[in-house]
Amino acid sequence: MSDTQKILRQVEALIERAGSDCLRDLCELLQRERPHYNWVGFYFVEGNELVLGPFVGAPSPHVRIPIGKGICGAAVAERQTVVVPDVNADPRYLACSLETKSEIVVPIEHNGRILGEIDIDSHTPNAFGPDDRALLEEIARRLAPILAAQRKTKIEIRK
Ligand code: SME
Repeated sequence: MSDTQKILRQVEALIERAGSDCLRDLCELLQRERPHYNWVGFYFVEGNELVLGPFVGAPSPHVRIPIGKGICGAAVAERQTVVVPDVNADPRYLACSLETKSEIVVPIEHNGRILGEIDIDSHTPNAFGPDDRALLEEIARRLAPILAAQRKTKIEIRK
């Protein structure tokens, strides 16, 4: 079994066990399996902003990011994965830690709507290759229906 498949199996088990409450464990799992993932977290779309959800790594000053700002906002605005091999060479980058050298942001889309994203920072330059992208996009696909259902429940409870 490939490394990616091994991780996806563990992700499936987490989702089955905890549903939408699995996100913090999922961050830990990714960091454990891919040690170059130094900061792993989720942002969720709320109105015109991204709001920080569960994460592992150093606390981020960017708890709310307007859509369109930063690498995080760009991924939502462009509706696609953004890979930045050298954050210091990208004018969009919002610094979280001086140690961060590269970043990947993968949107979580359900029925044409972006619900949020997976954001990963690395202390290694150019840390994210096609394998990372494929793994994270597959995780985003598997999480999308669960997060959409959770969002629907929250909206119904507020009514
Ligand atoms: N670097 C991100 C901000 C979030 S932190 O990485 C956690 C960005 O440019 O949007």
